[in-house]
Amino acid sequence: MSAGARVLIIDDEEIVLDVCREILEGDNYTVATAPDGAQGLSLAEEFGPDVVFVDLKMPGLSGFEVLERLRTRDPSIVPIVITGYATLASAVEAMQKGAYDFVPKPFTPEEFRLITRRALEKRRLVRETIALRREQEMLRENFAAIVAHELKAPLAAVQQNLLLLTVELADRLTDAQKERLARLRSRLDDLLKMIDTWLRAISADLGKIRERFLPTDVAGVIAKAVETVQPYAARKDIEITQALPPSLPAVHGDEGTLGEALTNVLSNAVKYSYAGGKVGVSARVDDERILIAVTDAGVGIAPDELPYIFGDFYRGRAGVTGEAGAGLGLAVTRRIVEAHGGTITAESMPGKGSTFVITLPVRRAAEAARDRPEAQNRPVAPLGGAV
Ligand SMILES: Nc1ncnc2c1ncn2[C@@H]1O[C@H](COP(=O)(O)OP(=O)(O)OP(=O)(O)O)[C@@H](O)[C@H]1O
Ligand SMILES: [Mg+2]
Repeated sequence: MSAGARVLIIDDEEIVLDVCREILEGDNYTVATAPDGAQGLSLAEEFGPDVVFVDLKMPGLSGFEVLERLRTRDPSIVPIVITGYATLASAVEAMQKGAYDFVPKPFTPEEFRLITRRALEKRRLVRETIALRREQEMLRENFAAIVAHELKAPLAAVQQNLLLLTVELADRLTDAQKERLARLRSRLDDLLKMIDTWLRAISADLGKIRERFLPTDVAGVIAKAVETVQPYAARKDIEITQALPPSLPAVHGDEGTLGEALTNVLSNAVKYSYAGGKVGVSARVDDERILIAVTDAGVGIAPDELPYIFGDFYRGRAGVTGEAGAGLGLAVTRRIVEAHGGTITAESMPGKGSTFVITLPVRRAAEAARDRPEAQNRPVAPLGGAV
């Protein structure tokens, strides 16, 4: 990107505008100029510049304001501030506020050309990064679609046929053969569930859950998640205790996916606990947030593993050496919690246990007013999440 690149210059000194235009047009750039911030901003709308030079000291809108509005409009535009020697400090401030570089007045044509070239290179890199991110996003979605159609459909057909065979051959099969068919079906079931988990983790549908947010009772979500994990805990002789205040404010959220998030964390607590151990769930309100903590006294997580446990497909040493899993539970959980405007953090001591804290913003008055009464009667999705 150089010849034909679009450069906008905003400065109240006519001489500066003329000189800059002359230098850049000589190099085949397309140049537009404006004598103040307001005109500069409206020109930026129609001109679509790659790089914008902004004088910091202008009557009317300040250079800082222009910078800020330009960045909000299109973060990939590369802004550069023009400044006098006396205002070097403000040039530094401008760079802290998002300007890419600054040109101190007076400048030579060569200095101006160099800065413009560097800014255009920066613009090229920024646009490339955006394009790569978009491509990555598309790959992610396409991969989900491929898994869904190419893998899921034939597996479901095999499962269906196995079921039919089992029924049709019921009186001709020995018990051992029936047992073998049942095992086949159960393995297929596991496989289909695993594909579903992958799809949930990879596909972008979580972003859409905001559309079905309703006032959600956190105590109810906790109770259901505990109920879901209970049979698994009982098999390991693990007691799950709850410490909740008598009442908790509602959150603005989706009961089904919140339940899935909590089930994932609780089932991890059970999974990575020693048999006969204890798992605790507690909740409290702090300021405008509800904090839900899940504590176990299990194997714990080494400090070098902690930063990675919320990543896709990450399985720590406890995971790999012990129980089965895909390394997706916490990644899905983090996405669900973040879609609710919340956070999830973990603290752990290897050999002593771990505490996971989910923080959710309390449903604010504005949201309460916005929720239509009829929406509150809509049925909620069933609690998901495999244990
Ligand atoms: N409560 C816990 N105690 C100790 N280690 C944990 C705990 N929770 C998570 N981990 C570690 O973090 C890793 C990632 O957890 P995550 O739930 O994402 O995957 P997983 O449990 O291995 O598999 P799955 O996809 O079935 O949940 C685990 O493999 C384990 O090493
Ligand atoms: Mg897990």
